[in-house]
Amino acid sequence: MSEASILINELPLTEAFIPTRLLHREGQLREIERCLSPALRHRRINNLYLVGPTGTGKTSVAKWILDTHFQGQSAYVNCWKYQTAHDVLSELLLTFQIPVFGRESTSDLATKFEKIARKKQVIIFLDEADRIRDADVFYHLIKSGAGIVLAPSIRKDSGQMSRIVMIRRLDESDFTLMKSR
Ligand SMILES: Nc1ncnc2c1ncn2[C@@H]1O[C@H](COP(=O)(O)OP(=O)(O)OP(=O)(O)O)[C@@H](O)[C@H]1O
Ligand SMILES: [Mg+2]
Repeated sequence: MSEASILINELPLTEAFIPTRLLHREGQLREIERCLSPALRHRRINNLYLVGPTGTGKTSVAKWILDTHFQGQSAYVNCWKYQTAHDVLSELLLTFQIPVFGRESTSDLATKFEKIARKKQVIIFLDEADRIRDADVFYHLIKSGAGIVLAPSIRKDSGQMSRIVMIRRLDESDFTLMKSR
């Protein structure tokens, strides 16, 4: 058997893949949609925190919702790849099709991002958020008024949870948790 025939379809193994149907997640999808829906009317949203063991669908659920309902006003950032405020803000600006020039400072990037966030309620999904090395990311995003969805990759207590995705409002202690890494 040739190597090429082992995998029928490699797409589901890529980072960009989102399943067309998310099984057994109706309740969580509805709950997240409800929390984020004010953004469609350009009203502020409550920031969200998604937690659940590996593979329970935190990334898939959040990406699916942003792609389905919030295209053009949302951005996905994988914080394994982008760990500093400068990197995250650059990535966000590029997602919103704002050019980034080589030597712009973090505060220049933050000012550009604030202009976007002032025009519309944007939703920023920080996936693997515990990888962030630079807590200024949170400061800049909160100051801009952007809505934030956080999904950490590791949680000490997630081993005791069943295979579900929990959703709750983000609070100050979550940022402290990220900062203390
Ligand atoms: N409800 C679901 N229905 C169908 N496929 C799913 C569902 N949830 C997750 N998957 C699939 O399972 C795999 C893992 O999902 P995902 O990456 O979203 O999990 P995760 O909770 O973000 O994991 P991690 O904690 O490692 O980041 C993906 O291939 C995804 O397509
Ligand atoms: Mg994930």
